[in-house]
Amino acid sequence: MTYPPGPHGPPAGLRTPYPGSAPAAAPPPPFTGRHTGPPSGPTSVGPIPTAPPPPMPSPPATPSVPSAPPGSDGVGLPTPREAASNDVNDMVSIIRSSFDAVAHRSDELTQLFYGLLFRIAPETRELFPVTMELQRTRLLRALVHVVQMVDRPDDLSVFLRQLGRDHRKFGVVGEHYDKVGEALLGALRETAGPLWTREVEDAWTGAYGIVSQLMREAAEAERGPAVWMARVMEHRRVSQDLAVVRVQTSQPVPYLAGQYVSVETPQRPRMWRSMSPANAPGPDCVLEFHVRTVPGGWVSRAIVSHARVGDVWRIGPPMGQMTLDPRSQSDLLMVAGGTGLAPARAIIEQLVTEGTDRKVALFVGGRSWADLYDIDALRRSAQENPWLTVVPVVEDDGRQYGAETGTLGEVVARYGAWADREITVSGSPPMVRATVGALLDVGTPFLNIHYDPYHTD
Ligand SMILES: Cc1cc2nc3c(=O)[nH]c(=O)nc-3n(C[C@H](O)[C@H](O)[C@H](O)COP(=O)(O)OP(=O)(O)OC[C@H]3O[C@@H](n4cnc5c(N)ncnc54)[C@H](O)[C@@H]3O)c2cc1C
Ligand code: HEM
Repeated sequence: MTYPPGPHGPPAGLRTPYPGSAPAAAPPPPFTGRHTGPPSGPTSVGPIPTAPPPPMPSPPATPSVPSAPPGSDGVGLPTPREAASNDVNDMVSIIRSSFDAVAHRSDELTQLFYGLLFRIAPETRELFPVTMELQRTRLLRALVHVVQMVDRPDDLSVFLRQLGRDHRKFGVVGEHYDKVGEALLGALRETAGPLWTREVEDAWTGAYGIVSQLMREAAEAERGPAVWMARVMEHRRVSQDLAVVRVQTSQPVPYLAGQYVSVETPQRPRMWRSMSPANAPGPDCVLEFHVRTVPGGWVSRAIVSHARVGDVWRIGPPMGQMTLDPRSQSDLLMVAGGTGLAPARAIIEQLVTEGTDRKVALFVGGRSWADLYDIDALRRSAQENPWLTVVPVVEDDGRQYGAETGTLGEVVARYGAWADREITVSGSPPMVRATVGALLDVGTPFLNIHYDPYHTD
């Protein structure tokens, strides 16, 4: 395997943290009152409101769907061995085929689901955004996707526990899981008509029970804050469609470099979106986000065009498994498309701060050179840190800039299987899918590839 060698830089002790990031050890700037200056640029800002207390854990309710199917352990998910059993495989194949039969009527299913939910549990309406026209399928799509994955308990259990803790930020409490289960099954039953047999009902009931029990237990066991309040301290419009936003929380958000959080802005109340901090956690409680607008996007457009210094955001609990394994000394390959650079940059910042002997190759890609918004800083970082190699990749001809040409998946796979590396892949769902596929095609061991697979967009 070969990859372009990184330029040599100063010795480890003289390496600087990642350019453009706050020094890791900077003390928190004092909060000196509301900002009155121009709407962008670093500044100190007014006091950060304290987060409201998390919702009280509810007493265990009598579930209207059983908590777990026969044969699973008391905790919720079956063990991997059990998951491979015929029972679970049968359950999943029944769920998939019954959902395939109604998938073409997803609009009707969605309307039925929310109609039922808001009738049997009217108080849940206010957990959702005011306007649900464009994004009313979010929860239902996520539910259906997750329920179909109960045969992958190892992947799913960490995610579901994080998701359960995360759902506290909406104000979800234990009883809501029963109501959502009832609405989900009711909507499916009505949409499927005669195809809804006893066997199908049992399969959905069992799978929903497994998933919801894990989320519920994790939420009820959590004692930390449900949300962190953060004040926008810098909003820098890097290009027409991209902004770098730095926010500061009053208490540290316990994230690891490479994880993501969800954010809610005052411009789009109750519309939470996942965003990956682009910096490693530090004592200054600053999180940096790189936000790119997607066409017709509600939240991304509002953040890029309308977020202002002094705005107060809410931040949900950290999620994701794309973090450095402290037990591993393997070299790293990071493949990042667009703002998928953010988590890779956070991991690199952590390695710079801690010092490392691991070789790191970062392939950073976009359609054209103009999309590589952070390339100058990345190249500087590679000059200063000899273990880091940065390879820009663009889909149009990139030779004049010293970039490789092609999609990220094509280019990375040209170098071989990278079989001895831990690999992270981050970016839009199609980019992640294509890159993981290209790596598997050239023989990369699947277990070496890390990405956050539950993108529901
Ligand atoms: C784990 C994770 C981490 C993320 N980190 C970041 C980040 O650091 N920076 C960042 O800018 N975004 C990030 N995203 C994407 C972000 O969460 C939103 O999905 C995105 O900002 C669009 O939200 P919206 O409200 O503007 O669009 P919506 O109003 O929800 O959707 C509008 C339209 O755009 C489509 N769409 C939604 N999301 C995408 C997308 N990602 N790519 C292409 N089309 C899309 C929708 O299908 C819809 O048709 C991340 C997503 C995940 C799952
Ligand atoms: C087994 C149970 C559940 C699963 C697997 C699940 C999964 C998810 C996921 C993955 C999302 C994020 C969707 C996205 O970002 O696109 C989401 C959003 C949401 N969930 Fe859940 N959820 C469950 C139960 C519940 C319950 C019980 C409630 C309470 C009513 C709830 C309320 C919400 C709300 C309000 C949103 C935001 C919706 C939006 O932005 O439109 N969820 N859910």
